[in-house]
Amino acid sequence: FNLKKYNTFGIDVITKGYTQFKNESELLEILENEEYKTLPKLVLGGGSNILFTKDFDGLVLHNLIKGIEIIGQNDTSVYIKAGAGELWHDLVLFTVARGFGGLENLSLIPGSVGAAPIQNIGAYGVELKDCMESLEAIHITTGDKAIFTNQDCLFGYRDSIFKQHFKGKFIITNVIFKLEKNPHLNISYGAITDTLKEMNVFKPTVKDVSDAVIHIRKSKLPDPGIIGNAGSFFKNPEIPEKQFENLKLQYPNIPFFPCEPGKVKVPAGWLNEQCGWKGKVIGNAGVHKNQALVLINCGNASGEEIKNLSLEIKKSVSEKFGIELETEVNIL
Ligand code: FAD
Ligand code: EPU
Repeated sequence: FNLKKYNTFGIDVITKGYTQFKNESELLEILENEEYKTLPKLVLGGGSNILFTKDFDGLVLHNLIKGIEIIGQNDTSVYIKAGAGELWHDLVLFTVARGFGGLENLSLIPGSVGAAPIQNIGAYGVELKDCMESLEAIHITTGDKAIFTNQDCLFGYRDSIFKQHFKGKFIITNVIFKLEKNPHLNISYGAITDTLKEMNVFKPTVKDVSDAVIHIRKSKLPDPGIIGNAGSFFKNPEIPEKQFENLKLQYPNIPFFPCEPGKVKVPAGWLNEQCGWKGKVIGNAGVHKNQALVLINCGNASGEEIKNLSLEIKKSVSEKFGIELETEVNIL
């Protein structure tokens, strides 16, 4: 089964087995199937955070669990349950249309609801962890059902227990969100404030913030439907304050974000650009011309070519800045 259409890098690889599930009982049937039991398994959502470097010698489980429903509310909050196979942006639009606050800054992030907790998706000052209540999952070998609260997920910057201790162990089936009926908007990002001004909006609603974020993202990030990519290829490194102060002496205009005490987050896109990578192409793999953190498939790139380009970038950033970039995309 060919996976080219099932990964946003558009890498031409095949998988030994492919199957879909639309609800928990279909999933349990697959997990109990004797023929499938011994095969390595990969849960797939939208394939927008994966780089395949070779064919997959196992079974791909494509999550198509649908449904978005309001499951409870009180004076201040509303609880929404979404199937893991829903498109993330469809969920955002559902909440924005009803004026519920919490997900608007995360508008237009590609992929599925079920993958969102894996790396605790984030954008424009908000992360999934800020409004995820809990999630339901099924253990990939035992078929046991588990509920993870927000705290159980050990969320961090582009990180969770599902990328660490429980990597590959659970299949997320539903995610429950707690959203605000009287939204507290987060418009601290300069780009959002500027865009709202351009839109002549002075008292923004959740819909205005969502529209602003959509506008910014469309202007910066390549559409995977046109140019194969998986968003940011690396995480933004968090470096010790002392190292940052030294860098700032040499590069007074270095952009930065605050993060945990004693550390400073530096944009990897800026580091890559300083190393001359912006817009560069090697063979079929390239670096986007507007965003040096986004690696692209310029045609028929193999996953290996994109991975090799990423290694070259990593090496140059390490040599020039003494900073080790960490990959964000899941490389298989
Ligand atoms: P997939 O790529 O299908 O899977 C990703 C990982 O999660 C894999 O390891 C997979 O096995 C696992 N997985 C998927 N579904 C499940 C499940 N139900 N249960 C258990 N494991 C599962 N990310 C951000 O955080 N912020 C951004 O602003 C952002 N912008 C992006 C922009 C572009 C143009 C692109 C292409 C990507 C961007 N991303 C961003 C990355 C990506 O959208 C997210 O990581 C998204 O959550 C991936 O969803 P998916 O369904 O495509 O996951
Ligand atoms: N920059 C450059 N050159 C570049 C790219 C960026 O100098 O080629 C500078 C920009 O000028 C800006 C800073 O770097 O000062 C930050 O750039 P941007 O706002 O584009 O965001 P980012 O840090 O590159 C992060 C996330 C994105 C998220 C945006 C918005 C990570 C790894 N990436 O990107 O998430 O959408 O912020 O909040 O944290 C993703 O995870 O796939 C992703 C796209």
